[in-house]
Amino acid sequence: MKIRKEMLKFHQYYFGEEEINEVIDTLRSGWITLGPKTKRFEDDFCQYLGCRSAAGVYSCTSALTLSLAALGIGQGDEVITTPITFPATTNEILLCGGIPVFVDVEPGTLNFDANKIEEKVTEKTKAILPVHFAGHPCDMDKILEIAKKYGLVVIEDAAHALEASYKGRKIGSIGDATCFSFYATKNITTGEGGMLTSNNEELIDKIKILRLHGISRDAWKRYGGEGFKYWEQVALGHKCNMFDIQAALGIHQLKRVDLFWEKRKIICEKYDAAFSNFPEIKPLEVKKDVKSAYHIYVIVLDKDRLKISRDEFIDELMKRRIGSAIHFRSLTLQPYYKERLPEVVGTVPLAESLSDRILSLPLYPTMSDSDTQYVVDMVTDTIEKNRL
Ligand SMILES: Cc1ncc(COP(=O)(O)O)c(C=O)c1O
Repeated sequence: MKIRKEMLKFHQYYFGEEEINEVIDTLRSGWITLGPKTKRFEDDFCQYLGCRSAAGVYSCTSALTLSLAALGIGQGDEVITTPITFPATTNEILLCGGIPVFVDVEPGTLNFDANKIEEKVTEKTKAILPVHFAGHPCDMDKILEIAKKYGLVVIEDAAHALEASYKGRKIGSIGDATCFSFYATKNITTGEGGMLTSNNEELIDKIKILRLHGISRDAWKRYGGEGFKYWEQVALGHKCNMFDIQAALGIHQLKRVDLFWEKRKIICEKYDAAFSNFPEIKPLEVKKDVKSAYHIYVIVLDKDRLKISRDEFIDELMKRRIGSAIHFRSLTLQPYYKERLPEVVGTVPLAESLSDRILSLPLYPTMSDSDTQYVVDMVTDTIEKNRL
């Protein structure tokens, strides 16, 4: 089998002339920070999701910071979440004084198992923070039911889940607040960027104040020709607003979102069809009542059927000029978390055992049919040469 010369990257973003021209227009407009383009992107985003209100922020991490702050999570409050996530999710809980409480994952989706949430609720629990891993929605009915029963808020980490819906409802208007990411590898990108959405308009108004130092009027309105208005600081805020150069990219990326999704879905279906023949690897499942955002394509290796480890599998793909990645090793195995929260090590056995069995294959809309076929052939070759 012929190995290609050019690396097939794990991810590649796509910008067209529209994004480039909008950035140039922004640079020429005389206004590059939070302003009219951010407002336009927020409005377009609300329309796409069918939610009432949205605040553009610097990143999904900022969206998490602001949601936790605005919903009153603080010192000693417990937040129930998943160990299979990017550290940003739980770092922000710790940074606001809260304590992440981990629930083990379900094997098919790697989302935290909603049936195991209730046993973790204590008097200190204030919030549930589902992460829609790989773009597959968590069991929101169960989560909302528990939240209602115990008076908890629900903050969703939808960094992977822009196009996802749960039982016909789009992710972004279900929980109290939902956090999206437009980081370079996400479903749409603004380089760095994020959006916080909610059907609670008052909450988003509060977040718009908190994203800009706690100041009561956005800068562009202060200087924007409505007559002089002095600003007032009304809360203790952060500095994590979106700015118009980011929004210029986002406005046009959002127009491509469904096409991008369609293309990734086709690639996932090809992978699924090809890999269903191999007992050595297992793709994740998509449940019937959801729409997945198909953000990443994860396979689980059966270690008992292969003579190489997951890391060696990644090396084998690299030798065949294919980039892959790991989403994610359980946070309970990260050195920082092991030291900071030693009591959580070993409490999520499935997440921990999956941590050295999962890897993610290339998945992005500009992959050609032959790129996809190349990945299939090379994964097949790696399995065939290394099966026990
Ligand atoms: C699940 C999850 N949450 C949060 C983040 C943080 O996103 P951002 O880089 O936009 O802050 C990421 C980024 O990879 C992520 O994967």
